[in-house]
Amino acid sequence: MANDDSGGGRFSDKLQVPEALTFDDVLLRPKESHVEPDEADLASRVSKHVELPVPVLSAAMDTVTEDEMAIAMARHGGLGVIHRNLDVDEVAAHVERVKRADELIIRDVVTATPDQTVLEVDEMMDAEGVNGAPVVDEDGTVLGIISGTDIRPYLEVGEQDSVREAMTEEVITARKDVTAREALELMYEHKIERVPIVDEGDQLIGLVTMQGILQRREYDNAARDEDGRLIAGAAVGPFELDRAIRADEAGADVLFIDCAHAHNRNVVDSAREIAEAVDADVVVGNIGTSEAAEALVDFADGLKVGIGPGSICTTRVVSGAGMPQITAVSQVADVAAEHDVPVIADGGIRYSGDAIKAIAAGADAVMLGSYFAGTDEAPGRVVTMQGKKYKQYRGMGSVGAMQSGDAQRYLKEEDEDEEYVPEGVEAATPYKGSLRSELHQLVGGMQSGMGYVGAATISEFKERSEFVRVSAAGQTESHAHDVLITDEAPNYKPDGS
Ligand code: XMP
Repeated sequence: MANDDSGGGRFSDKLQVPEALTFDDVLLRPKESHVEPDEADLASRVSKHVELPVPVLSAAMDTVTEDEMAIAMARHGGLGVIHRNLDVDEVAAHVERVKRADELIIRDVVTATPDQTVLEVDEMMDAEGVNGAPVVDEDGTVLGIISGTDIRPYLEVGEQDSVREAMTEEVITARKDVTAREALELMYEHKIERVPIVDEGDQLIGLVTMQGILQRREYDNAARDEDGRLIAGAAVGPFELDRAIRADEAGADVLFIDCAHAHNRNVVDSAREIAEAVDADVVVGNIGTSEAAEALVDFADGLKVGIGPGSICTTRVVSGAGMPQITAVSQVADVAAEHDVPVIADGGIRYSGDAIKAIAAGADAVMLGSYFAGTDEAPGRVVTMQGKKYKQYRGMGSVGAMQSGDAQRYLKEEDEDEEYVPEGVEAATPYKGSLRSELHQLVGGMQSGMGYVGAATISEFKERSEFVRVSAAGQTESHAHDVLITDEAPNYKPDGS
């Protein structure tokens, strides 16, 4: 009776049950180490063709990840997965904004025409928040460039003079394969702050600015594609081929089939179809067993694990089904490793220690919802209750989230009376400030775990790490105990909130 498909047998045999463990049941066994935590390299794959400097993903939830979160995650080396409670067009727009955010070459260039007046251009640049604009004719051919310095009053340029009279005609341009270093050298050499990018016919393609280059330098650990653009992820429903195609066309690097139970024949077939139709990598989830992994490894670029571990999930109590997360991850990882398919542990991670335990259990990356929902970059506003600040955080299977989208994730039909059977709750989570500091704590803690095990890289860590089983008394000992905490630590709350 132990396997899915077996029939017959005695009911009482069902009680000869295997044990399944989760985060608090285990600890990493410390080992001799020559690795200082700061030196531990977290780089890891999230899917077959996408590697991240920081293997951490923000969840595809409407209170966690839209463009702002996705941009911030990628700038700090991780990946944001844009949720699917948005129209297909909106998702495409969010993905495009992520891909464009730190592009070396700005494609949406504010331009001026030679016959505009200086006043008009000045007002336009003010409104667009730019300090200069290439001047182009009707064909987009670059004729000159005009900047704030060209139109300062002391240059005796009249407000009603034409741009043609005020612009600099000798424009330094570059081709689209210019590197950041080359563009910067041109700027220093010619004492300019922007270089129009043109094609063979001198037609404008884009613009590189000094400000843009300096901003990119701030994020030297960003997750970028081969063209230097930020990596973007988007969730699609298991039967949403159209959404998958739009997100793919918009430039998403990884698509996530978003389903509470991906080991469902219809979901597997549809996910396979989606994977065949798009260029992006396709991660399929969620699953929690080795049999589910077997059903997906031949076409999935990644597998996502988590049946009911999430902080806002009620799947296990509503349906009676689920798999404690450490065991689920290890079962899936056993199969995935044989096929070189990366695994993502999704849900239930409260502390950095949980995240690195998930990797020891076989995951290549981790996905978190509640951990990030209280940050500035998550959608939604800060509310104050009894003097404390919070942000809303709700399960995608909660009544509110299903009303704002659909119930496809839970393989339910649209409910016209909106009498949903929810598998999640609507909640509030403490406001935490910027994503940067939250991620810093998470990454620092994960590196500490690698230091205790003596592993300099994720693959070394996965090989070297061993677990010990923790008793209930051991769990109590693990937490701060027998004291009254007077100053909150930035990475620890007794209840994990
Ligand atoms: P954490 O623990 O990080 O979990 O907040 C986030 C993950 O939880 C999943 N999720 C849900 N699971 N009912 C569920 O059973 C829900 O309403 C729900 N909403 C999100 C999802 O995998 C997410 O990444």
